[in-house]
Amino acid sequence: MSIEYIADRNLFHIKTLNSSYIFRVRKEYVLEHLYYGKRIDALRGIEHLSDENYFGATLHAIDAELAEEKLSTGRMCVEYPFYGSVDMRQPAFHAVYNDGSRVTKMFYVAHKIFPGKPTLDGLPATYASEDEAQTLEITMFDSMTGLKLVYRYTAFEALDVVTRSVTAVNTGKFGINIKKIMSCSVDFDSSDYDFIHLHGEAWRECEIERKPLVSGEIRINSARGASSHLHSPFFALAQKNTTEDNGEVYGFSLVYSGNFELGAEVDSLKNTRAYMGINSFDFNWLLDSGESFTTPEAVMVYSKSGLGAMSRSFHNLYRNNLARGKYKNSIRPILINNWEATYFDFNEEKILDLASKAKELGIELLVLDDGWFGKRNDDKTSLGDWYTNSNKLPDGIDSLAKKVTDIGIKFGLWFEPEMVSPDSDLYRKHPDWCLHIDGRAKSMGRNQLILDLSRQEVCDYIVSAVSDVLKCGNISYIKWDMNRNFTEIGSAVLAPERQSEVAHRYMLGLYGILERIKTGFPDVLMEGCASGGGRFDAGMMHYFDQFWTSDNSDATDRVKIQYGTSLVMPNLFMGAHVSAVPNHQTGRTVPFETRGLVAMCGQFGYELDITKTSEIEVEEIKKQIQLYKKIRTIVQLGDLHRIKSPFDGENTVVEFVSKDKKSVCLFCFTRMCQVQYNSDKVKLEGLMPNSVYKCEDEEYSTDFLENFGFDIQKFNDHSGKLFLFELI
Ligand code: GLA
Repeated sequence: MSIEYIADRNLFHIKTLNSSYIFRVRKEYVLEHLYYGKRIDALRGIEHLSDENYFGATLHAIDAELAEEKLSTGRMCVEYPFYGSVDMRQPAFHAVYNDGSRVTKMFYVAHKIFPGKPTLDGLPATYASEDEAQTLEITMFDSMTGLKLVYRYTAFEALDVVTRSVTAVNTGKFGINIKKIMSCSVDFDSSDYDFIHLHGEAWRECEIERKPLVSGEIRINSARGASSHLHSPFFALAQKNTTEDNGEVYGFSLVYSGNFELGAEVDSLKNTRAYMGINSFDFNWLLDSGESFTTPEAVMVYSKSGLGAMSRSFHNLYRNNLARGKYKNSIRPILINNWEATYFDFNEEKILDLASKAKELGIELLVLDDGWFGKRNDDKTSLGDWYTNSNKLPDGIDSLAKKVTDIGIKFGLWFEPEMVSPDSDLYRKHPDWCLHIDGRAKSMGRNQLILDLSRQEVCDYIVSAVSDVLKCGNISYIKWDMNRNFTEIGSAVLAPERQSEVAHRYMLGLYGILERIKTGFPDVLMEGCASGGGRFDAGMMHYFDQFWTSDNSDATDRVKIQYGTSLVMPNLFMGAHVSAVPNHQTGRTVPFETRGLVAMCGQFGYELDITKTSEIEVEEIKKQIQLYKKIRTIVQLGDLHRIKSPFDGENTVVEFVSKDKKSVCLFCFTRMCQVQYNSDKVKLEGLMPNSVYKCEDEEYSTDFLENFGFDIQKFNDHSGKLFLFELI
């Protein structure tokens, strides 16, 4: 049993293979957090430790009637902290009640433990069979306000994962304004950690930043309406000496795609409070009597063996227990996308030429990007008008889809359904369907406005407009884009006191739309995109089978972007394309071979005009496609080991090991060649013990490869090499 309740000590022990998460109900009915870390099986002594620590300095009673002893929550490790009493640190929960008071005091009422995992109404979440996971639900209650909170913990024992979410239920008579409700909060009795997170920009997604915790707070957030390019909804707390392969680390990832906040606060006693949830900035949820509100899910991973093991837990969980549908855990097709090949300048003939050439080369899918609908010839018009641009495609999109399919490859189509161009039939018909504030100018982003997905009729329109196109039957793939941040966040139909709910209601609307499209068209493979990786998060992974990792297709930059992204996201989901040189974003010229190898570390494809490539490149493309078909199961479904980081030097090495450990791909990339250095040896990981592998006709033992290391040799600037190892 992975979740244990020890009744005589009122203690909950959530166990995974390598971790323990322990808290208890104190005699004051308050929940006290005791421990999160390496698995402990013999718990004797754990409560004494907490008593000695906190009671020497007792200052206040949390609730005089209930407290037999005086108890200071200002000092203890709290399981889920509230605002309004003696705990002055960041609360996980903050609300304003009918009488204007802001004090919340919740007391334990009951709990239950059951196999499996419940769904979270309207929200994406991990799921589990009854054998895979166990769930604990704790009910807390405040009799003064009638607020009930349910804390949910699910243990995925084999993966060292504990997921959490909280549901608030208003059982009282009056409305409650929830101002902050975190998905999780964890108190650690030390601050001796590094804080790791992923930050960036469009074209520079997922840079890894690692810095020591300091007194006070590190807080990361997005208020842009999407998780955003700037910060991923992920962070980790790592011991100072933690590396890829050694040391303890706690990873936190939020299954949500909208505004979020996360952080770590170090108090005066050097305790750390880590938290994650919907951004409390500009958030207010009016919970009327009888209503409930559920937070997004937070996923916590514990690793005692470094960042690599943490990432592999996330990858396994997200591939097996978050992604869904026909394409879950199946290899993705090799595609060509016409965006960087033609931009808006194409017609049917051009697309069919690309399709024929693609077929000849072994490509399996053609994706027609922006510009096929309305009157769209640039980015100034027609978003919302999801019917064929008859100037470009006089026979219609159905006919083109059929012709491409008849050539023998699949056909995919770009949409940006959450948006509307002011110059569109949709906007002329429904000017109030966008997010806006009456009387205020609407800020444009890429000449477009955002539809108000907090409105059901707008969501229904999107579902029917996209479905009408997909119904032709020959569209096997959609790329779902989203290209701007939220501004003037207001809805024409919500009451004034509910306007601060719009950003979250938008996300609920979007999740509802995606659910309907996904279940309505189960055979369609769905790619997510937000100017590249602006919404590449765990929430979206519940709907999308892959993502466009970045609009920066420069191979040298992509090595970093893909490496950073892999901290949480599986490579199976990372769209990666070979594009033309000089690269359209950086102007850099990287050899064709390197561009191919970098793209092979993800979901492989092309984004250049293959009808205009040289004979030599055509031969190279054929070879690349053959090679990728041979290795894609290893890359997409195997285990990733990051061996050398592009953030630490000029060489990057990543290794993919097939689940049966029989095949290994070792990708090596050099940014700038360094002469007269003697460290080209890399130690492989995750191999079959006591075995022998063959690479380029040489044989190597596992012992040798893992302990002495393999010589990857010297390379030129912007070069790459793939070593393939097979078990013999
Ligand atoms: C965004 C996407 C690109 C492309 C363009 C089309 O920038 O990230 O891949 O689809 O939109 O306008």
